[in-house]
Amino acid sequence: MDQITIRMPDDFHLHVRDGAMLEGVIHHTVARFARAIIMPNLKPPVVTVSDAALYRERIQKVAGNAFEPLMTLYLTDQTNPQTIEAAKKSGFIHGVKLYPSGATTNSDAGVRELAGMDSVFRAMEEVDLPLLIHAEVTDPSIDIFARETVFLDRFLRKLPEKFPRLRIVFEHITTAAGAEFVTGAPPTVAATITPHHLLLNRNALFVGGIRPHNYCLPVLKKETDRLALMEAATSGNPRFFAGTDSAPHEKSTKENACGCAGIYNAHAAVELYAEAFDSMGALDKLEGFMSESGARFYGLPLNNRKLKLIRKNQIIPAAYNFAGLSVVPMRSGETISWSIEDAFE
Ligand code: DOR
Ligand code: ZN
Repeated sequence: MDQITIRMPDDFHLHVRDGAMLEGVIHHTVARFARAIIMPNLKPPVVTVSDAALYRERIQKVAGNAFEPLMTLYLTDQTNPQTIEAAKKSGFIHGVKLYPSGATTNSDAGVRELAGMDSVFRAMEEVDLPLLIHAEVTDPSIDIFARETVFLDRFLRKLPEKFPRLRIVFEHITTAAGAEFVTGAPPTVAATITPHHLLLNRNALFVGGIRPHNYCLPVLKKETDRLALMEAATSGNPRFFAGTDSAPHEKSTKENACGCAGIYNAHAAVELYAEAFDSMGALDKLEGFMSESGARFYGLPLNNRKLKLIRKNQIIPAAYNFAGLSVVPMRSGETISWSIEDAFE
C-alpha cells in the first residue's frame, strides 16, 4: 500500500505549552489532528475550570476553528469533588490528569498522597470524567526503568476493582507488562501509545554518546517492550489508541548537564505512526488506532474530515525555530518515508 486515507485523527495526549511556544507548535498538530487532549502541566498548572477556560481560549486563538482542544485539569492534593463536578458541567473538560508529584516535567504540584484521592476518584466516577494517569512511582530507590511496572503493581492493578465505573487512561504505556494489563483489564481501562515508544528502544538514548533529544518520561524501555507495544497498537484492540505525548522543550534545556524530559513529534506524528504500522504490515489498523478507538473511549463523535497519507520521503529539519525558540524534533535531520498529501472534507 503506497497511500492511505483515514478519518482525521485525534491526539489523546499532547503538550502545547503556552505563549510563543504554543504559537509555534500548534500548527503542526492542526495539520494532522482534529482534536487533542491538552495536558495541563503548565507553570503554574491548570487546576481550576477557569484556568482551563482561559487556556482553551489562548489555544483556540492560535489554532483556529478547525481544531478542538479537549481540556484537562491537573490533579493536586487540594482538588475536591466540587471542582470535578464543575469540570464535568463545563462541557469542555474531558479528563483529569494524575501526575505523582515529582514524576516528570512540571509535576511538582502533583499528587503526593495517592491514598488521599478516593473522594475525588469517586466524584469522577459519579460524573463520568476520565482519569488520565502518568503511571510511574517517584521513589528514587526504584530503578528508573521499573517505575512504570512498580506503579502498576502497587497502585494501578487495584484501581478498576475499587472504582468499577471510573474510566481510566493509562497514559503513554512503555512496557510489555503495561500492555498486558490493559488487555486483561475491564473495558473501563484504556491506554495511549506514543510514536517514540513504538519506534525507539532505550538504545536510542546512547547511540555513540548520550542523546538528550530521545530522553522522555517514562523513559524508553527494552526492545521486548517496544515489540509488545507494536503488537498492542496494531492488534485492532480498541483499548489502545494514539496519544503522541509530543512535548516541546527549547534546545538549550535539553542539551544541558541536566536535560529535561520530552520528545517533540507533532511535526510528523501521523507519518511516524504510519511508519510503525507499515513495518508491521498493519496499515489497515491505522485508522482505528488514530481516529476511532480513542474518540469512542472518550464518548466523542468521529471526525468527518479525512487525511490522506502517501509513501513519499520527507526530510525532517535539524530544528524548528518558533519565534526564537529552537526545538529539535524527533528524527531531526533524517528522512522519513510517509508524508501527508492532503486533509479534506
Ligand atoms: O517526557 C515527558 N515530557 N514526559 C512527561 O510526562 C511530561 C512531558 C513534558 O511535559 O515535557
Ligand atoms: Zn505527557
